Amino acid sequence: MCFHPGNCELGVFDPLLKSQEPLSAQHVARELSTSVDGMERLLDALVGMEILEVETTDEAALYSSTDVTNLYLAQGSVKSLHNMIIYQSQTIYPLWNNLADAVREGKNQNEKTFGLPPESVFQALYRSEEEMLKFMGLMNSSWILDGHDITTAFNLSCFQTIVDLGGCTGALAQEMVKVYPSSSVTVFDLPQVVEAAQKHFSQENDGVVFHTGDFFSSELPAADLYILARIIHDWSEEKCLTLLKKIYDICKPGGGILLVEAMLFENRRGPVMAQIFSLNMLVQMEGRERPPSEYTHMLNKAGFQNIQVCRTGKTYDAILAIR
Ligand SMILES: C[S@@+](CC[C@H](N)C(=O)[O-])C[C@H]1O[C@@H](n2cnc3c(N)ncnc32)[C@H](O)[C@@H]1O
Repeated sequence: MCFHPGNCELGVFDPLLKSQEPLSAQHVARELSTSVDGMERLLDALVGMEILEVETTDEAALYSSTDVTNLYLAQGSVKSLHNMIIYQSQTIYPLWNNLADAVREGKNQNEKTFGLPPESVFQALYRSEEEMLKFMGLMNSSWILDGHDITTAFNLSCFQTIVDLGGCTGALAQEMVKVYPSSSVTVFDLPQVVEAAQKHFSQENDGVVFHTGDFFSSELPAADLYILARIIHDWSEEKCLTLLKKIYDICKPGGGILLVEAMLFENRRGPVMAQIFSLNMLVQMEGRERPPSEYTHMLNKAGFQNIQVCRTGKTYDAILAIR
């Protein structure tokens, strides 16, 4: 609720960030070409949610942002979650309109929502360049919040070469480079994703190298450590096992996998965010969220024996499996 996408789509937080002074609803409405009445009600609701502050006099109400709003909700901030919120609004909400059918049928709702076949989940996600960029923006946003907790969940300094399979924009890879500057970090992803990542997301001298391929059908680059961040949750157990076995087969002894996922509690009582993500996997993808025991079971089946789990206390947790 507090991150309701309508506010971000309208750009409500940006004039408030730019202005040195509190603004009236009339002023914000004029800048954003909206009705004054609608804007006034929206700003008041945001005050009620403690996202904005208001000062009232007999003549006027003047609105201003809080520091947290400026940091996370204004588009111009380096820690902006704007991309995440826009993706929720334009892609996730329409899919969730079909949640009842997803539960009834036990499969994603890409066909009903976007007219795309349920079996090609990434074809649906990347149905246009614009959609792909929105999804990449969403993926990028997560590591703004949680990247450091993942890269430091284990001491990974013994791994000289690291490949982030399905590494998307390279946001997590950039965090790895910051924490382990002597390791080489490569992002492996589909060609169109790598092209967009290099064009729109990677920064010069960020130390991340890109490699194109399909992790199911292409040969994987050699590495000491393979990162699979939010990859296993996309796929059926059968496809996950195929991928994990493929990695096990090319891993040298001492090499391994770092799995990163929002992990469920074993007792099924939460975390509610991971439970909601699992429903999201149902409406949008082929996979599901799982508790650590299920990841451990799959890793064992693939051949890995030495497995450690780290609960970070944040949204995403990590499992390190060594061959
Ligand atoms: C849910 S996203 C996770 C992205 C990133 N690991 C993160 O956590 O931000 C899944 C990623 O896997 C990539 N992907 C999907 N299928 C792939 C395939 N067959 N080969 C390589 N990458 C693939 C997608 O392009 C996307 O970047």
